[in-house]
Amino acid sequence: MSNKINIGVVGAGIYGHYHLNTYTTDNNVKKVVFCDTNEERLQATEKEYNIKGYSSVKEMLKNEELDAISIATPDPYHYEPMKDAILGGIKNIFVEKPLATTVEEGEELIKIAKENNVRVAVDFHKRWDPAYLAIKNDIANNKDKIVRGYMALDDIIDVPLKWFNWTEKSSPAWFLGVHCYDLIRFITESEVKRVYAVGNKQVLVNKGCNTYDSMQTILEMEDGSNWTVENSWILPNSFPKSNDGQLIIISEKGYYKNESYRGLNQYNQDKASVPNYLFMNFTENDASGFGVQPMKDFITAVINNTPFIADAFDGIQATRIAEAVHKSIITKEIISL
Ligand SMILES: NC(=O)c1ccc[n+]([C@@H]2O[C@H](COP(=O)([O-])OP(=O)(O)OC[C@H]3O[C@@H](n4cnc5c(N)ncnc54)[C@H](O)[C@@H]3O)[C@@H](O)[C@H]2O)c1
Repeated sequence: MSNKINIGVVGAGIYGHYHLNTYTTDNNVKKVVFCDTNEERLQATEKEYNIKGYSSVKEMLKNEELDAISIATPDPYHYEPMKDAILGGIKNIFVEKPLATTVEEGEELIKIAKENNVRVAVDFHKRWDPAYLAIKNDIANNKDKIVRGYMALDDIIDVPLKWFNWTEKSSPAWFLGVHCYDLIRFITESEVKRVYAVGNKQVLVNKGCNTYDSMQTILEMEDGSNWTVENSWILPNSFPKSNDGQLIIISEKGYYKNESYRGLNQYNQDKASVPNYLFMNFTENDASGFGVQPMKDFITAVINNTPFIADAFDGIQATRIAEAVHKSIITKEIISL
């Protein structure tokens, strides 16, 4: 492989634009193309970036020599483009979280990826968040042991109601929870043993959207730590950020608390906000922040043939936990993994 690679982005929606912004300004990328099944979006994106777009993965692969693809289709639709890419000869895939919204689909993807020698990276960007890395390092340096953890990640209600047309096929656990489950696995370097969860369906259902408002989960980890994870999709739109998050850890030797508020209050005209300036920053020639770093690291790992920081195994583990969360809510039982 030459030093620079060619990449195809699949899905040019909200997050696909972040992929495009990142790859089109990455010095390690030679060429960026994309595909989107929505004709209007395809044309608008071609104009916006002055790059070639296609209407499907298959068409894109027929016409381009690609080293990698980067999938940003809706949560329930990662399976088909990923399968088409694997069977179409692509050897390196970056996929948005969750890897899949069923364990069955995720396992099949992993099986065919293995059979075809394909490497898969999953976008669990919280592993790159400097606050969480500092906590993880401090615990390791102190040879500390986590006793109890709490993690919350919540979105304003416009996210499920206005941002997507696939909300009912996802949930706070699929969209937000998987970030938490993955980060907990990452920080504890341990797996989930048992899951118990409860959920509410009140507010969104009353607005004609059949998914959970809130999902609360207890995770028992193999290292003996116990965690509570809370995810909701109904924060009022007046919240000055589209999402909110907290992480609290009590360990044998310490106490850690992180809020997603990053210390900046911003007042523009009639709107106040608390932007997460550490997450993503785009200029004409550059992309930076822990939200784009997974994509940049994916490119360098492909070029250097080095391991991915979050791979297909991490993807399927988060999918297993999210599926167990849904099952526990419905059956009211504790689910062993
Ligand atoms: N890493 C993160 O923190 C983060 C944050 C937000 C969203 N995401 C993830 O990104 C993914 C996309 O979310 P979004 O907000 O951009 O959704 P979106 O609805 O804005 O965009 C999805 C796009 O995919 C296109 N599409 C659908 N099926 C396709 C297919 N088979 N082939 C090609 N294009 C197809 C749609 O036309 C649309 O343009 C989701 O899985 C979501 O969870 C990740």
